[in-house]
Amino acid sequence: MDSIIVTGNGPLHGQIPIAGAKNACLALMPATLLSEEPLTLTNAPRLSDIRTMTTLLQSLGAEVSALQDGQVLALSSHALTGHRAEYDIVRKMRASILVLGPLLARAGQAEVSLPGGCAIGARPVDLHLRALEALGAEMDLRDGYVHARAPAGGLRGGPVEFPFVSVGATENVLMAATLARGTTVIRNAAREPEIVDLARCLRTMGAAIEGEGTDEITVEGVDRLHGATHRVVTDRIELGTYMLAPAICGGEVECLGGRIDLVGAFCEKLDAAGIDVTETANGLKVSRRSDRVKAVDVTTEPFPGFPTDLQAQMMALLCTADGASVLEERIFENRFMHAPELMRMGARIDVQGGTARVTGVDRLKGAPVMATDLRASVSLILAGLAAEGDTTVNRVYHLDRGYERVEEKLSAVGAKIERVPAQ
Ligand code: UD1
Repeated sequence: MDSIIVTGNGPLHGQIPIAGAKNACLALMPATLLSEEPLTLTNAPRLSDIRTMTTLLQSLGAEVSALQDGQVLALSSHALTGHRAEYDIVRKMRASILVLGPLLARAGQAEVSLPGGCAIGARPVDLHLRALEALGAEMDLRDGYVHARAPAGGLRGGPVEFPFVSVGATENVLMAATLARGTTVIRNAAREPEIVDLARCLRTMGAAIEGEGTDEITVEGVDRLHGATHRVVTDRIELGTYMLAPAICGGEVECLGGRIDLVGAFCEKLDAAGIDVTETANGLKVSRRSDRVKAVDVTTEPFPGFPTDLQAQMMALLCTADGASVLEERIFENRFMHAPELMRMGARIDVQGGTARVTGVDRLKGAPVMATDLRASVSLILAGLAAEGDTTVNRVYHLDRGYERVEEKLSAVGAKIERVPAQ
């Protein structure tokens, strides 16, 4: 397996282009299953998770081609040949569950392997299943698969009320509801920018949706959806990650394509830590006000709160802050696996359940570390950028799931980072 060696190398200067959002793209791609006509996605990120979704859709009979070096995805589902998402694909990526709603709506039936646990917690799919049941689907769990069937005459709109916010379950039921008969009202819906992006794309395809971006989304079912071209929204997690690079190392970096509205709560915490963020014509410019950042407390929450997907990277920043910070993880029960790795680099972190207390040290020291999940791996790279000496991040396949050309983007602003291919 490849590893990445990062060497602390001082301040960073320049521009980093931010890609289209992985998590938006992973929801937009299954939307192709809802229509016989082609769907074209532009500004797609070039990531292994996108290739996994491509393989899954192809296994169902969809045509998917990556054009323009992977930045344009041409999808077509004019003739679906299957409705079963196999374990071998689903186990690689939990977002595979997002084919369930569209398949039910279009084909009237679906079999999707249960994703199983993952490194950051149990992550069940009960909310997805309950929401689709509210549209009349019958669910049966057998042999590790969800066997789902729409009633005769197809799904019917209905009220869906989530007990707590789920991004994926909101996406699944939103897609299914576009072709259901009648009105679906989704309450306690996720408000993430990726939901807004999906709703916009579905509307371009002819869906009747209102209220995306609020906690109540109303969908009026239509008979069919047509083709569309849609530009994938900027990746707010990649954006936040690269905004932290100059915050940690000093210097000034402009993140091209960045928008404050995508990272509002995150920017408030950066400001409290002593980091300046200014809007430019092309994105967001970031620099720190003094050599040492200040400690801040962070609690992860659904959007518009502080994103769980930036918690590990924020922890990397706070490891060298002046004072003690408390990070509370409220979305996933086991998402501090980067903490022991950061401690190998000299960080002082005390984890108690869902809370981590980080006491800033003067400087981190390079060490061999292990990437345990996608966001953890990039937090170790950020920490390595500011550490004394070399940090070798092993098991970087997680990184390639969610960050395109990370070495290229960071080298371009002056970081010393290289990939060592597996022997
Ligand atoms: C999405 C993102 C992920 C991000 C997460 C929270 C994608 C592909 N992934 O994941 O990067 O970290 O949102 O912002 O978009 N839950 C249940 N039952 C369910 C569904 C979820 O108990 O049926 C729980 C989860 O275990 C978790 C919480 O709900 O504790 C929120 O998860 P959810 O918003 O569904 O996350 P994902 O959509 O899987």
